[in-house]
Order: sequence, then structure tokens, then C-alpha cells
Amino acid sequence: MCNFKLLATKGSVVMTNNDKLKAGRAFLKADDWGELSKLETDQQLGKPTPPLQKPIHDGAKLIDLIPPTEFTLGTMPFMEVVKKRRSRRKFLDEPLSLEQLSILLWTTQGIQRLIRGTSIRPVASGGARHPFESYLYVERVDGLAKGLYRYQPLEHQLVLLREGDLSEDTNAALRGQLYNSAVVFLWTAIPYRTEWRYSILSGKLIAQDSGHLAQNLYLAAEAIGCGACAIGAYDQVKADGLLSVDGADEFTVYAAITGRIKDKR
Ligand SMILES: Cc1cc2nc3c(=O)[nH]c(=O)nc-3n(C[C@H](O)[C@H](O)[C@H](O)COP(=O)(O)O)c2cc1C
Repeated sequence: MCNFKLLATKGSVVMTNNDKLKAGRAFLKADDWGELSKLETDQQLGKPTPPLQKPIHDGAKLIDLIPPTEFTLGTMPFMEVVKKRRSRRKFLDEPLSLEQLSILLWTTQGIQRLIRGTSIRPVASGGARHPFESYLYVERVDGLAKGLYRYQPLEHQLVLLREGDLSEDTNAALRGQLYNSAVVFLWTAIPYRTEWRYSILSGKLIAQDSGHLAQNLYLAAEAIGCGACAIGAYDQVKADGLLSVDGADEFTVYAAITGRIKDKR
């Protein structure tokens, strides 16, 4: 299974493939809850709660999304949605409607209510820390210019970060898996949002949280005539570069491609 080849020879830390396998298993088994109880977390030290979302830059172009109270799509019975769910990589050329995009964003990261600075959302998150930011590369959505956007869940708005055809860079960030997607979701984590409460246990919690986002995206997409495919095999450096995040305090953790599909029901 493992050829024990030396991998990282540029820096001083050299990990063999075997070391990496062990580190991966150790990460999955992390259960330092006893150790955590001996630490003073930033929350216990009284440090301010990390913000729920990134700030909007001055003069940013904001786009209002359709609010959940006005959704008309997504009435398919739950068991039908679950039975239909598949990873979709073939999409129609038609654009997504703004309502479809609004539904995909709200079901993955929208805010249902705020309780003492904590957000409650359609997805579960350990301690309701919600460490993610949702970035979109929009190729085809009715009424939206092509380009890179970020979702602002508190206002249920999009902020335009970079207008233009970024399909080449996005395809490179996805290691050639852009296909004919109408919209690409790129989720970053801001680990401190979780670390503020869970310190050394945060990595595993964030990884566990991210699956919930993708599953809601899969199910919501199926319910509204769209399809999705999770993309775990993205290029870390290129994805972080595309999003202009620092790769240390915020970095890409997951992605997904979406688009309209032929309804075979
Ligand atoms: C964590 C994770 C990462 C994945 N990464 C990729 C990927 O990079 N490229 C891809 O084509 N599919 C990816 N997939 C989709 C899987 O290949 C797919 O779920 C699997 O083949 C089962 O098919 P199904 O989702 O239709 O049931 C990923 C799925 C998960 C859950």
C-alpha cells in the first residue's frame, strides 16, 4: 500500500508516505476532549466572539438574493430527493435562475436566526461555530455577470469580488473538473471561528462540518432541477490564489460544481 518514498525534501520536515498515512488516521481519531478541558480557550479568556462573516469592502457591488420566504421551488417530497441524489458532472447549457442560486446558498449557509451572536443555519456545525465562507465562480446565472462572488449570509446577499471570465483559473483550481458547470462553490474555512471555542479539537470538527454543507447542496440541487458534484481533489494553492485568501487563517477546504440537469423523472 505504501512505498515509503520520501516526499517533502524542500523544507526541514520530511514526511514519508507512511508518516502521512499515520497522521491522517491520527487526525480522524482526534478525541482530545479531556485535554481541552484543561486548556483555557479564547472563549474562556473572554476574547470577543469571532465575526460570523467577512466584512464587505468599501464600494462593493452587492446583489440581493431571493429571500427564503419567497422561494417557489423545492417542493419535491424528501424521499424522492434522497432517492434521486447522485454526483452530477453533466449540465445543461441553460443558466441557473437567481432563485435556484438563492436556494443553493441559503440551504448550505443561510442564517435562520441569531441567538446571542451565534447563527443557526440549515446545516449543523459543531458548537454552531460555522467556520466557512462561501465563494462562487458564476459562469451562468440569470442577471449576474460572470465572475467571482462571496455570499454574505447575514444580509443574504452576494458581494462581487472580481468580474470577468475566470473559467481557466477556476478549472485549474479544480484540477480540470470544471466541466460545463453554471456555478462553482468554493468553501473556505476560517479556523479561528471554531478554535475560539474548541482550540486543539477544531481541525476534525471543521472537516466534519464541511460534509454537511455539501450534502445540503446535493439535496437542494436535486429538489430544484439542478445537480451537484462535490470536489475534494482541488488544487490547494490555485484555489486559495483564485479566492485571494492567505492560505493560513483562511483557506479552501472543499468545492462543488453545479448546474441545471435534464429531469429524468
Ligand atoms: C469528500 C468527497 C470528495 C469528492 N471529490 C470528488 C472529486 O474531486 N471529483 C469528482 O468527480 N467527484 C468527487 N466526489 C464525488 C464522488 O466521486 C461520488 O460521491 C462517488 O463516486 C459516489 O457517487 P454518487 O455521489 O453519485 O453516489 C467526491 C465526493 C466526496 C464525498
